[in-house]
This record gives sequence, structure tokens and C-alpha cells, in this order.
Amino acid sequence: MTLVLRVDPEAPEDMVIAQAAKVILDGGLVAFPTETVYGLGANALDERAVEGIFRAKERPAYDPLIVHLADARALDLVASHVPETALLLADAFWPGPLTLVLPRHPRIPLQVTAGGETVAVRVPAHRVARALIRAADVPIAAPSANRFGRISPTCADHVLADLEGRIELLLDGGCTMVGLESTVLSLVDEVPSILRPGGISREALSGILGEVVLAPSTVPDETRLVSPGTASKHYAPRARVILYRGEQLQVLKAMRRDALDLLAAGEKVGLLLAEEDVQEMGELPVILQDMGSLASMAEIAQHLYSALRTLDGAGVTIILARDVGTEGLGLAIRDRLTRAASGHVIEVS
Ligand code: TXA
Ligand code: MG
Repeated sequence: MTLVLRVDPEAPEDMVIAQAAKVILDGGLVAFPTETVYGLGANALDERAVEGIFRAKERPAYDPLIVHLADARALDLVASHVPETALLLADAFWPGPLTLVLPRHPRIPLQVTAGGETVAVRVPAHRVARALIRAADVPIAAPSANRFGRISPTCADHVLADLEGRIELLLDGGCTMVGLESTVLSLVDEVPSILRPGGISREALSGILGEVVLAPSTVPDETRLVSPGTASKHYAPRARVILYRGEQLQVLKAMRRDALDLLAAGEKVGLLLAEEDVQEMGELPVILQDMGSLASMAEIAQHLYSALRTLDGAGVTIILARDVGTEGLGLAIRDRLTRAASGHVIEVS
């Protein structure tokens, strides 16, 4: 049985937080909101509790977890070496959606780091998350609170849909603000490299660091994209996804043409669009899902995952999604859509 407790996202109630902290200290699992997505938390210093996360999510043991801290002062407790750049970044972006990969401190169990000698760390900006970490007074290991490979949860009912009965407690603090996971930045090599684009843009990181490279797995390279299945399937709805890239009107034309073909072939088609696209689509017997306006990548990021879930819930068999470019949060949005599409990307020219 999973207990669900409502919590005020702005002013978390002490009693609720204390109850959640007790579950963590007893070795249990608590799902809680962060500013990015819901996390599935356990005491990062408790090997058995951490193993419970992998079981609940059906996550393979080779995929390491992020350790969440209440503030940057605790960095020395989880990392064996904290470079100057980490402190600069912490100053600029914490609390916030940036995860830093640093050398692991020996007290962090290898279960957390998937056997590796580095540890991923972040200070979340959500009041509930920080209150929970403070109250438990231990670092909290937390992946996104979804079953492995599925869409990250941005609202409490998404967590229940994936994990009901598998975790002790869910703190329901409403829907999250950022809507996409944190940016994962490795500081263990000479040049900082983005392992996963996310809530802090590459441009913002460059402003502090100068040169930042994108790790090869994050670069949606054309030759890989044309062969479906090469990008690992992740962040994925049940329906198949095809991603369309290119100039707006051309993209919409291609999506409309393909939608008609797919309908004729008996598919139930969903279109994932920007607000500006909807009127261009006209009358089509498909399900239109709007992610928000192109004028705000933050708005699209916030709605992306629930839009995908809504289309899944409507029972579509295939989702045609439009790309949003790579500026700011666009890069992370493209990354998630590319993975959801398993690399099935159509370049429209
Ligand atoms: O916004 C977020 O980051 C959310 C909230 C809950 O904090 N968490 C999250 O965790 O998205 P998860 O486990 O779903 O994704 C963590 C990512 C994975 O891609 C994992 O491979 C990577 O971070 N990661 C974790 N530790 C790492 C390490 N030591 N080295 C390289 N990558 C690491
Ligand atoms: Mg995840």
C-alpha cells in the first residue's frame, strides 16, 4: 500500500515532512516533488534502501542515481574532491535543475553510483524536497519516480500510475514547474561535458564556464537518427513516436500527409504540437495535443511529459511530434523527444 499525503508546495507542513523523513530513515521509499520532476527517494547512505529504488523502478543496476542535498555545504560529504568550478556553478545555479558529476566519496555506497567512482549530486529548488532532506538529515538518492524507460512524472498521479503499491509514501505537492529533468554536467574530465541536457541551458552554463561540450550521446547526430532504434528508447510513451524536424510550415505539411496515410492504415494518430501549430492543422480526425507556445520553451518543457501521457491515455497508437529547435531548453526538449522516438526522426526540407 502506498500512502499519499498532500503537502503544501510553498509551505510544507512540518508534520508531513517529519513523517516522510521517518520513512526515509527507516529505509523506506518516498516519492516527492522537485522543481523538475518527482523523485523516488531513499537514504543514500543505506545500501538496502537504495537497492529498493532499483526494485521499485525495475531499473537496471548499471544506471547510477543522483544524490540530493539540502545545500552545497554538504558537498564535501558526498564528493571526495570538490573542484573550484563546482563551487562557482553551485553559487550560480543551486538550488536548481543542475546535477554535477564529481569524484565519489567513499561513504557513498556503490549501489548509488552503479559501481562507479563518480557521484552525481544536486540541490533541488523545491521547498518540499529541501525540507525533506533537511528533516531526514541524510543525502537522498532519487531517480525520477517512474518505471524504468517510461516518462518522468511531473504530477503526483503520474507517480501512482507507475509505482502504486511499490513505495511506502508519496508526497503530493501538485505538478512540477520545470517539467524536464536536471542538466547532468560532468566535471571529472578536463572540459566540463553535458551528459544530459536539462533544466539549465547550455548557454547558461557557458556563461559561467566558457567552454562546455555535449557528450556524444546527447548529440542528435543525423547519421544515427536515420536508423531507428539506435538512440536508446527512453522517456517513452506506450505509443510509437516519430519526430519531425525542419521549418514550421514544411513540418506541418509532412505531419498532415503522414497522419492521413497512417489513418488510412488504421492507426489511431496523435499529434504533439505547439500552440501556434494547432490552427494550421485544420480538420483532421486525429487527437491534437498542444504543448504550449513556441514563444516560451519553459512552457513547452513544463507541459511536454503530461502531453505525452495524455496522448497515451487517449489510446493513440502513434504520435507525430514536432521539434522545437535547440535554443535554451529546446535542446533538452529535442533530446527527450528524440529518445521517446527511439531515434525515429524525419528531417523535412
Ligand atoms: O531532475 C532530475 O535530475 C530528477 C530529479 C528527481 O532530481 N532526477 C532524475 O534522475 O532525473 P534519473 O535517475 O532519472 O536520471 C539521472 C541521470 C541518469 O541518466 C544517470 O545515468 C545519470 O543521471 N547519472 C547519475 N549518476 C551518474 C554518474 N555518476 N555519472 C554519469 N551519469 C550519472
Ligand atoms: Mg529517469
